Amino acid sequence: MESKWRIRQAEEPEVELYLKWADREGWVMRPEITRGFYKEFPYGWFICELISDSSKTSRDQKPTISNERTSNKAIGVLHCVKYRSNVGFIGFFVVDPEHRGQGFGQKMFQYVVEDYLFAENGGGPEAKAVGLFAMKDAVPFYMRHGFQKEEETVRFLGKVRKESLVMGSKLDGSLNTQVTGKVEIIRINNQYDVHYLNYFIRIESDLEEVVLMDEKYNLTFRPGLWRNWIEGERKSLEKKDNSCSSVLYRDVNGRLAGMGMLGGVTRQGLYLLRLGPVYAESFEIFKAVVTQLLIKATCFSKEDSVVIFVDLLVGNKEACDWYEKTLGLEKTLTTIYMWKGDSSIIFARDILNKTYALAALDFP
Ligand SMILES: CC(C)(COP(=O)(O)OP(=O)(O)OC[C@H]1O[C@@H](n2cnc3c(N)ncnc32)[C@H](O)[C@@H]1OP(=O)(O)O)[C@@H](O)C(=O)NCCC(=O)NCCS
Repeated sequence: MESKWRIRQAEEPEVELYLKWADREGWVMRPEITRGFYKEFPYGWFICELISDSSKTSRDQKPTISNERTSNKAIGVLHCVKYRSNVGFIGFFVVDPEHRGQGFGQKMFQYVVEDYLFAENGGGPEAKAVGLFAMKDAVPFYMRHGFQKEEETVRFLGKVRKESLVMGSKLDGSLNTQVTGKVEIIRINNQYDVHYLNYFIRIESDLEEVVLMDEKYNLTFRPGLWRNWIEGERKSLEKKDNSCSSVLYRDVNGRLAGMGMLGGVTRQGLYLLRLGPVYAESFEIFKAVVTQLLIKATCFSKEDSVVIFVDLLVGNKEACDWYEKTLGLEKTLTTIYMWKGDSSIIFARDILNKTYALAALDFP
């Protein structure tokens, strides 16, 4: 018998379902950031559910969107977001294993892309380009929906040892550090200073610039998310959990020229540090920011090393080489960065080459 189904927008408590299903897939997420993302963009969270009432949408009709919560069985989730830069992004696409291969994924995806992202309606402007990170097996599926392969992402993963950073043996000889109370300053060729900022970004004085830098390099304006993220960091610091840290890099004029975030994630019982996002105006600044994040992480760790991972586009070759050869991380997973629509908005090279670590809500 053919099942009746519909697609509706999810409510805030249902973000837990997304987290549960993504975790079952073995994806790495930071739940508190996902929850913060809902607060920032509550519109693009869709749930596909089976319904018992035969008067509702059947799978042969166009789905109707409803906010009504029911006791119907959820069988699929998908998250997307539209930014004010006319860019949309898709993630958290999971169909319950019992219901896969029956066309639900296809219908849900088509609805969200065509009738929501590329349409002007509540929750943001009409998108001109929509992107996603695809697992290799799913590429033909997305190509059938008009997405094109743009570039690969690569994940670097491995141990970083305290000594290798502090002694500078693996790092650029021109770096030297100096600790002044809680503010650590690093000089590069005597030209720039990195301000360690007590290991977190100050909402009062830094938030606005951080939000604008994120928008510049990631095309996403998300002040609420950043506020939530920073407040989360502060709370974890109060609990003496030093897994989260941020570094802002200011040039001699005090202008923000680089930033980086490092945060703890648990994946299948293993505790890892995820690096990202990292944006920097130059390769030198990138190295300074990441080095500072790692010095802090290793200094506070009880172990003599920390395990970190980072996802970035293979096109940023200089950074890929640095992660692999200087830090000694290993290449692991690759995903395909795919776009539909006018992807030139995204692929302005100078923007992508300044992203040294990606940050996606869900990542395999
Ligand atoms: C991807 C997913 C949501 C598709 O949902 P679904 O309801 O099974 O999809 P449909 O029944 O509409 O059909 C999907 C089609 O794409 C293929 N496909 C899609 N995603 C796939 C994947 N990750 N792996 C293998 N095949 C996939 C299916 O084989 C099928 O192809 P066909 O029509 O030629 O037979 C579901 O497979 C899933 O939850 N996978 C695990 C999570 C995941 O990989 N998400 C995508 C991350 S990029």
